[in-house]
Amino acid sequence: MFVSDSLGVNESGNLTIGGLDTVSLAEKYGTPLYVMDEDEIRGNLRRFKASMDKYYKGHGLVAYASKAFNCLAMCKIAAEEGVGLDIVSGGELHTALRAGFPAEKMFFHGNNKTSVELAMAVENGVGRIVVDNVSELMVLNAIAKAAGKKANILFRIKPGIDAHTHDFVRTGQIDSKFGLALETGEALEAVRQAASLDGVALKGLHCHIGSQIFDIDPFVHAAEVMISFIAQIKQETGIEIEQLNLGGGFGIKYLGSDDPAPYEEYMRRVSGAVEARSKELGVKEPYIIIEPGRSIVGPAGITLYRVGAVKEIPGVRTYVSVDGGMTDNPRYALYHSEYEAMIANKAGRERSAVVTVAGKCCESGDLLGEGMHIQPCEAGDILAVLATGAYNYSMSSNYNRVPRPAVVMVKGGEAREVVKRETFDDLLRNDVL
Ligand code: LLP
Repeated sequence: MFVSDSLGVNESGNLTIGGLDTVSLAEKYGTPLYVMDEDEIRGNLRRFKASMDKYYKGHGLVAYASKAFNCLAMCKIAAEEGVGLDIVSGGELHTALRAGFPAEKMFFHGNNKTSVELAMAVENGVGRIVVDNVSELMVLNAIAKAAGKKANILFRIKPGIDAHTHDFVRTGQIDSKFGLALETGEALEAVRQAASLDGVALKGLHCHIGSQIFDIDPFVHAAEVMISFIAQIKQETGIEIEQLNLGGGFGIKYLGSDDPAPYEEYMRRVSGAVEARSKELGVKEPYIIIEPGRSIVGPAGITLYRVGAVKEIPGVRTYVSVDGGMTDNPRYALYHSEYEAMIANKAGRERSAVVTVAGKCCESGDLLGEGMHIQPCEAGDILAVLATGAYNYSMSSNYNRVPRPAVVMVKGGEAREVVKRETFDDLLRNDVL
């Protein structure tokens, strides 16, 4: 029934996370509420790191993709666990710097970084700037030269892989706004250009083929394509590429029926492909970076809501409305992403009701799911939506002037607020009369 090991049911029949009663958490901190299991997050980071060490033998780095969930506390956890950090905006960079995250372990992504963001990255010594296109290369070169520095860069490459996932989260194919294509020769041309510039040092290549991918084959294929490109670069320009960042995208279990391949298996097969293809083509095995986001934080989070109106439309459906919705989790509205849910204060009972969970926004599409199996419920109950740790808080909005929920982290049986609930006054902070 549970999509994560940190969930359970206690003697009161209430859902628990990290051993803590979710109904008590909802009472103490209010609803809607994001709750994250810090022990699970740290455990996931450690497992990825151990697997990386095992398969790449100290010649690799795990960089947490902070777009999945970014706040001061999360950046601090990532720093303490010794991983790198994927950032994709000035805001994520600012948060990470404020949290004391070491800039040299950051990878700055994005298809349209502004010159202000690039200058911020150069000034603060961001370890790798992942250059998306040639105009960015030129702007960055000028910024770095003016600052008397040399920016270490990776190039974002489209390996031409069509991974089977939702269209909006698919990025490796040629028709993508991200990166340089191999087929057209623009990627090789960019490498040549970078070699002629004083303000940048080309350290490596990057690719990311998409997100929530269950199948390992596209990852293996992407790695092979990238090693082949490294060999082509060496042959045609003499440049030896030292680093290869293979991105993130590992699928997680949202539904009981989901069956993602274990990342240990991903690591084994992809490292095997990197080794074999490098040997075959006579290039030095590159230092490997991977960037998991969803698989680090997704399963570790849940969202708690208070049930309000329950509207049964005979022969049609039953709407269970909650006090949050697309403002704290836009993923059903955006991608039709499905989640498991349950009534936290009736967690031990059978999930015999099939309902549509609706949010409180003035929008018919504001749903958290349709055909969801939950325990029969009434106003006042606590609804828990599971596996909401990734891309929920980070994609939340203030639509309808709904304040964002608080985020609570649970660790060693203790809870602490890591992001405070927004107040109505917070909504007015930047308003000018
Ligand atoms: N590296 C790069 C360059 C990325 O663009 C991404 C995700 C990741 C790593 C991390 O991927 P993950 O391991 O989390 O799958 N908002 C969408 C997901 C967008 C993913 C964007 N890039 C969602 O809610 O499903």
